Amino acid sequence: MALGSSISVRTRREIERLRGAGQRVGEILLELRAAAKPGATTADLDQLARKLIKKTGAESSFLGYGPYGLPAYPAVVCTSINAEVVHGIPGPRELKDGDLLSIDFGVIHDGFHGDSATTVAIGEIGDEPRRLLETTAASLDDAIAQMVPGNRLSDIGHAVQARAEGEGYAVVKQFVGHGIGRELHEPPQIPNYGPPGRGPRLKPGMVFAIEPMVNIGGDAVRVLDDQWTAVTADGSLSAHFEHTILITDDEPEVLTRVEGSH
Ligand code: MF3
Ligand code: CO
Repeated sequence: MALGSSISVRTRREIERLRGAGQRVGEILLELRAAAKPGATTADLDQLARKLIKKTGAESSFLGYGPYGLPAYPAVVCTSINAEVVHGIPGPRELKDGDLLSIDFGVIHDGFHGDSATTVAIGEIGDEPRRLLETTAASLDDAIAQMVPGNRLSDIGHAVQARAEGEGYAVVKQFVGHGIGRELHEPPQIPNYGPPGRGPRLKPGMVFAIEPMVNIGGDAVRVLDDQWTAVTADGSLSAHFEHTILITDDEPEVLTRVEGSH
C-alpha cells in the first residue's frame, strides 16, 4: 500500500451524512454529560444512550464491535473512571463526588459514523484533576488547529504531545486516533505524539477522529481481564477527549461539536 493513498477524501454528499452522524453524537454526548452525577451508575448512562440512539434513528458504532479476536464490546458507550484510560465497560458502579469520568460514544447514521469523547468532573474535583482535564481538552484543540490543508499528518499528534508534555503530563502511546467514515476505524492511524512534518499532506474532505489520552503519571497502560478496560500502569489519573473533524479549505469543521459541548 502506497503511503497515504488509503486516506479517503469525502464528497459533498458524504460530508452531509458524516455531519448528520456527528451532530447526533454531539447532542447525545451532551445529555450523557448532564446525567453523569454522583449516585448514577455507568450502566444508567449506557441505558440512557441506548434510548437516545433509538430516538434519533441511529445505531451504535460500539455495540458488538470486536476487532482482532477481542470479545464483542457489550455496550453503546465506554465509561472510564479515574485511572481507567479508555474502553471501560458500563456496569453497576456508582459515580461518586470527585471522580473523573470519560464518556466515549459513537453512532452510525445513514451509513456513516461519528465518534466523540469527553471527560466530566463528577461533583467537585481537586485542582490537579481539573488541570489534567483542561490540558487534555486543550491538547485536542491544539491538534484541531493543525488540521488545515498543506500541513502533514504528524503535525496533529505532535501538537497533542507538545501541550501535554509541556504541562508535565504523559500521552498514551498504545491507543491512537483514526480515519472514520463508513467504518468506525479507517486508515490512517494517528498517534498522539511524534515529530512534526511527517506523513501525507492533509487535504480538504479528509475526516479524522482525534482522541488524546493524557496521564498525570507515566504513559504505560495495561488492559484488565475483561480484555477491554485500559488503565494506567501506575494508577495515576487519566483524561480523554475526542472529536470527529473534517478538513476544509479553511478552518477545520468539528463534526461532533454542538452548542454547549467542548
Ligand atoms: N473512540 C474509541 C476508539 O476509537 C471507541 C472504541 S469503540 C469500542 O477506540 F467499541 F471499541 F469500544
Ligand atoms: Co475513536
